[in-house]
Amino acid sequence: MMIRTMVVGAVLMASMSAPAMASMEIVKKARCVACHAVDKKMVGPAYREVAAKYEGQAGAASELFDKVRHGGSGTWGAIPMTPNDESRISDDNLKAAIAWILAGAKD
Ligand code: HEC
Repeated sequence: MMIRTMVVGAVLMASMSAPAMASMEIVKKARCVACHAVDKKMVGPAYREVAAKYEGQAGAASELFDKVRHGGSGTWGAIPMTPNDESRISDDNLKAAIAWILAGAKD
C-alpha cells in the first residue's frame, strides 16, 4: 500500500515537471488552446507539426513571434490567425511559448 502510494506520487511529479507545465499554462491562459492543440489540427496547426516544419531553421523563433503577435494566414491554409496583443500574452510569455512549441511541445 505504502509502495503503491509512492509510485503514484512519483508518476505525478514526473508529469508535472516545471518548464513544460509553465508553457502549457501560458498557452492555456492566453487562450491559444481555443485554436491549437499539441498533436492534432484544430483551427490552427498542431504545435508538433509547427515544430517539424521549422526544425533547424535559424530565425524561426523571431518570425513566429511576429506572426503570432500580428496574426496572418497562408502558411497552413486560408484560415487566418487573429492578432494576439500584449493584453493577451506578454513578450516574455510569447517567447517562452514559441520556444516550447519549436522544441516539440513536450508535455
Ligand atoms: C483564432 C484562432 C487562433 C488563436 C487564438 C491562435 N492561433 Fe495560432 N494559428 C491559427 C491559424 C489559423 C494558424 C495558421 C496560419 C497560417 O496558415 O498562416 C496559426 C498558426 C500558428 C503558428 C504557426 C505560424 C506559421 O507561420 O507557421 C504558431 C507558432 C501559432 N499559431 C501559435 C499561437 C500561439 C502561441 C497562440 C496564443 C498566443 C495562438 N497561436 C493563438 C489560429 C489561432
